[in-house]
Amino acid sequence: MFNSILYSILIASLVNASTIPLGKMADIAKIGTQEDIFPFLGGAGPYFSFPGDYGISRDLPEGCEMKQLQMIGRHGERYPTTSKAKSISKTWYKLSNYTRQFNGTLSFLNDDYEFFIRDANDLEMETTLDNSVDVLNPYTGEMNAKKHAREFLAQYGYMVENQTMFAVFTSNSKRCHDTAQYFIDGLGDQFNISLQTVSEAMSAGANTLSACNSCPAWDYDVNGDILEKYDTTYLDDIAKRLNKENKGLNLTSTDANTLFAWCAYELNARGYSDVCDIFTKDELVRYSYGQDLETYYQESAGYDIIKSVGANLFNASLKLMKQSEIEDQKVWLSFTHDTDILNYLTAVGIIDDKNNLTAEYVPFMGNTFHRSWYVPQGARVYTEKFQCSNDTYVRYVINDAVVPIETCSTGPGFSCEINDFYDYAEKRVTRTDFLKVCNVSSVSNSTELTFYWDWNTTHYNASLLRQ
Ligand SMILES: *[C@@H]1O[C@H](CO)[C@@H](O)[C@H](O)[C@H]1NC(C)=O
Ligand SMILES: *[C@@H]1O[C@H](CO)[C@@H](O)[C@H](O)[C@H]1NC(C)=O
Ligand SMILES: *[C@@H]1O[C@H](CO)[C@@H](O)[C@H](O)[C@H]1NC(C)=O
Ligand SMILES: *[C@@H]1O[C@H](CO)[C@@H](O)[C@H](O)[C@H]1NC(C)=O
Ligand SMILES: *[C@@H]1O[C@H](CO)[C@@H](O)[C@H](O)[C@H]1NC(C)=O
Ligand SMILES: *[C@@H]1O[C@H](CO)[C@@H](O)[C@H](O)[C@H]1NC(C)=O
Ligand SMILES: *[C@@H]1O[C@H](CO)[C@@H](O)[C@H](O)[C@H]1NC(C)=O
Ligand SMILES: *[C@@H]1O[C@H](CO)[C@@H](O)[C@H](O)[C@H]1NC(C)=O
Ligand SMILES: *[C@@H]1O[C@H](CO)[C@@H](O)[C@H](O)[C@H]1NC(C)=O
Ligand SMILES: *[C@@H]1O[C@H](CO)[C@@H](O)[C@H](O)[C@H]1NC(C)=O
Ligand SMILES: *[C@@H]1O[C@H](CO)[C@@H](O)[C@H](O)[C@H]1NC(C)=O
Ligand SMILES: *[C@@H]1O[C@H](CO)[C@@H](O)[C@H](O)[C@H]1NC(C)=O
Repeated sequence: MFNSILYSILIASLVNASTIPLGKMADIAKIGTQEDIFPFLGGAGPYFSFPGDYGISRDLPEGCEMKQLQMIGRHGERYPTTSKAKSISKTWYKLSNYTRQFNGTLSFLNDDYEFFIRDANDLEMETTLDNSVDVLNPYTGEMNAKKHAREFLAQYGYMVENQTMFAVFTSNSKRCHDTAQYFIDGLGDQFNISLQTVSEAMSAGANTLSACNSCPAWDYDVNGDILEKYDTTYLDDIAKRLNKENKGLNLTSTDANTLFAWCAYELNARGYSDVCDIFTKDELVRYSYGQDLETYYQESAGYDIIKSVGANLFNASLKLMKQSEIEDQKVWLSFTHDTDILNYLTAVGIIDDKNNLTAEYVPFMGNTFHRSWYVPQGARVYTEKFQCSNDTYVRYVINDAVVPIETCSTGPGFSCEINDFYDYAEKRVTRTDFLKVCNVSSVSNSTELTFYWDWNTTHYNASLLRQ
């Protein structure tokens, strides 16, 4: 009830969507100056390359031949979801109703500040050149996907040189679909690509890129007892500081938390955000670790069902890999959501529970899991299968960096020899049971992921969803 009232306020208060996004000269100086903070925004802000790249070359090791490529990608930079927009708007209303001059880090609001959500139709959607708040925004989901496509051609173009017809896969979330389409547009018109839109509804069961949605047993509040131990007084401090600088302003710690999301999504939509300058570096670190903790215990290795959920896609990946010689298609590109990628990497074991995170303190040296490093907007996880002389190897490239499987990395370019990899993978997926753990049969009769194999007879064209 409360939420629906807020939503109608939101819609009613939005300004004319057809205004031309004007840049100011001052924006030129600001855009590009905030990239240092992208890693602290929990993956909600613009794309950046994986910071822990160990210096391993991304090039195909000398004398090797690429046999198969798989890629699971996240949609690009986007506007907030409808529910996140509600909280951001709530905080914005408080600020917009303040009748005095702003002081301190909020004083940018005195200068004709235009709220970055201007049209309810943009919510949940990619940011584009057309819908950006500022004509100079360099961080649109649209351009990110097109640039990714050009980088793909530069890095792996030889894999599609003689294969101009192939399928690309996406979930039927509109932003995932749009990202796939921008990527395809970015490849250029020498390709004839069949975009397969696979349902992410619960009823899709196992035949989905988004197994988390087909999991009625998923507990969204799991491990709350662990998470509540994390010290969030930094949020109270932010609210107190702003209220003190601005007499009569009543921001709460919830508003303070919301400001981080505001910062991230405004970057995606405008190209910079004065809200990001509210926080101290310490506060960014505390927020960022809070995001890591929450993700670890609710969408990754700290939640026992995730390995099974992620194994739905990982098993399909293994099956494709084993068929690389018989499948005509050598490149398998799929677009979906961050949760699916996190679940998948948890099944693969790149994210695992050897280093459980603690809520008691920020484990600076012990934290090997940084949410934003794995799933910034536009994240991309490549699986490379290549042959060198008589042996074949596998390795993962995450957001432009080779990320080795630590216990299996003695091959060229820190890859894993294929038979060792299959043994390793078998140990990861053994005793995973997506159907049982998730109680899938209560919502769907579909028990197998088949779209990679039956797309050319089934033609996946699920209707697009705003979610
Ligand atoms: C602030 O402004 C909005 C829209 O202008 C209004 O709907 C709201 O009731 C006001 N008050 C608060 C406390 O948000
Ligand atoms: C593509 O075809 C050309 C001409 O047949 C051949 O020389 C080249 O090796 C092929 N490339 C790949 C990657 O198969
Ligand atoms: C593209 O591929 C489809 C089959 O997937 C085929 O029907 C169509 O003729 C092709 N178009 C071009 C321009 O090659
Ligand atoms: C503005 O904030 C500073 C502290 O940052 C404070 O010293 C000053 O009194 C504030 N001015 C007003 C008008 O509130
Ligand atoms: C903030 O709270 C105080 C006390 O509850 C109230 O008097 C004041 O009007 C509030 N200010 C705003 C801007 O909402
Ligand atoms: C991490 O926590 C999980 C779940 O409590 C446990 O199974 C696992 O053994 C822990 N890992 C380590 C290294 O203690
Ligand atoms: C590769 O395998 C072939 C056939 O089994 C063998 O003759 C050759 O010596 C092998 N080459 C290397 C470099 O091991
Ligand atoms: C993955 O495949 C293995 C067999 O290799 C099987 O034991 C496991 O149940 C499968 N997991 C899921 C989630 O389908
Ligand atoms: C599985 O689904 C059935 C049918 O909806 C329900 O009765 C049962 O409680 C569910 N079990 C779990 C563990 O969620
Ligand atoms: C599964 O199939 C059975 C038999 O066709 C049907 O009665 C049932 O409703 C289906 N369940 C779901 C969740 O689709
Ligand atoms: C679909 O693809 C498979 C494998 O690539 C191929 O064997 C089959 O002939 C194709 N079917 C159609 C109808 O194109
Ligand atoms: C998908 O394609 C089928 C067969 O061509 C058609 O009947 C159906 O309406 C299409 N669905 C959507 C959502 O476009």
